[in-house]
Amino acid sequence: MARNHKPEDFHELLGIMEELHHLKDLDAALLDALLLQARRLTSADAGSIYLVEDNALNFSFLHNETLFSSARTKHLYTSHTLSLDSQSIAGYVACTGKTVVIDDVYEIPRSLPYSFNHFFDDVSGYRTKSLLAIPLKTTRGKIVGVLQIINPLGKDGESIPFTERDRMVLGYFADNAGITVERALRTREMILRMIKMCELRDPQETGAHANRVGAFAAEIYHQWAFSNGISEPEIKKNRDLIRTAAMFHDLGKIAISDLILKKPGGLEQDEFTIMKYHTIYGARLFENPNSEMDVMSGEIALNHHERWDGNGYPGKIADIFADPVQLGRGKQAEEIPLSARIVALADVYDALVSKRVYKEALSEEEALAFIREQAGKQFDPEVVAAFLSIREVIVAIKNRYQEDSTPPLRYRITS
Ligand SMILES: [Fe+2]
Ligand SMILES: [Fe+2]
Repeated sequence: MARNHKPEDFHELLGIMEELHHLKDLDAALLDALLLQARRLTSADAGSIYLVEDNALNFSFLHNETLFSSARTKHLYTSHTLSLDSQSIAGYVACTGKTVVIDDVYEIPRSLPYSFNHFFDDVSGYRTKSLLAIPLKTTRGKIVGVLQIINPLGKDGESIPFTERDRMVLGYFADNAGITVERALRTREMILRMIKMCELRDPQETGAHANRVGAFAAEIYHQWAFSNGISEPEIKKNRDLIRTAAMFHDLGKIAISDLILKKPGGLEQDEFTIMKYHTIYGARLFENPNSEMDVMSGEIALNHHERWDGNGYPGKIADIFADPVQLGRGKQAEEIPLSARIVALADVYDALVSKRVYKEALSEEEALAFIREQAGKQFDPEVVAAFLSIREVIVAIKNRYQEDSTPPLRYRITS
C-alpha cells in the first residue's frame, strides 16, 4: 500500500462508504473491510480496531501487511482486552473522543497520559513508528470503538508521518464507520435475541453455539470457495451471508413441544419424527424472502439435517407450506445446497466437542476421527477437506466463543 495508491478522488471515498453500508456482519467481514479501507485511504501498512464492550476495550481485529501475507488468519478471532482508561493510546481515544496523531510512538513525551505498549513490536520484530488513532462514534456521539492505523508508506515503501489530509479524510471515514458498526451491533443484538428465544425452549441451542456454528461455517465456506476458484468479491459476500444465516439453523425448534425438546434420554420413533419438522418450521419463518440473507437462512434451516448419502431429513418436499406436510425422500449430494452441507458439518462438530447434560465432550481427536470417517457418508467430502485444512482457525473460534457464564433465563413453577 504505497502512497501512489492513495485515492485522491472524492468519488472513491464515497464508493468506499457505499460498500460499507452493505456490510452487516460485525465480526469478520465488517471489521476487515473497515480496516482495509482506512488503510487504503492513508496508504498505511498496518492497523487494528478495538471495540468498546462491557466497559472495556476489546482488541478485535488486526491487519499487518508486512507481517501477514493475508489478513485471514487466526488473528481474525484474536481477543485481548484493554482497560478503558487513558494509559494506552486506544484507551485515551476511547475515553476522551479525541483523535491522536503521533509521528514516532517511541518518542511520546512523558508529560502525556498515555504511552505506547511495544509488546507486539517486541514479539514480532515489527517497528511501529507513526500512528493515527481515531474514535468510532455513533450518530448520538457514543464511542463504540477505536480505529488505529500505523505506518503510512511513502513511494519507496518507507514509513512516513501522517499528514493533515490523512487526519481529515480518516475523520470523515470514522464518522461513517461508527454508524456502520453501531448498526451492525444492533442487528447482531436482534439476532442474538432470536437465538435466546430459541434457547428458552432448547437449552442446547445457546448464543455461543450459534456464534460458533456461524463462524465455523464462514471459515469453512471461505476455504472451500478459495479451493474452488470462486472470485474474491463473491467469497466476501457469501461469507458474510452464511455467517449470519447459519446462526438461524435451529430456529424452527421454537415450534416443537417442550415434552419432546426437554425430554431426558432418547426420543421414541414418533417423537423423533415430530422433532424432524423443526427443519420445515424454521424454513417457513423465511417465507416471502426479501433478501439473499432470507433465502440462505431458509435453505440452511430446511436442509441442515440432510446427509450427503441421502439418509437425512426432511427430504424432498414439494410445498413446505402444505398442511399437513409430509417428510420426503432424503436429498443427496449436490441436491443439498452448499450452505446447508457446510452448516451440517459445523453443527455436528460443535455438538461433538461440547459438553451436554447427557454427555461429556468428545476430545478434538475423537471428533476429527468421526468427521473423517463420515466424509462421503454424512458429510460432503469437499466440505470435510476444507474444514480439516483450517484446524487452527476452528480452534481459535472455539476459544473466542465460549459458553456464557450467566445461566440462560429459566422459569420454574412452584406450588
Ligand atoms: Fe437442527
Ligand atoms: Fe444446532
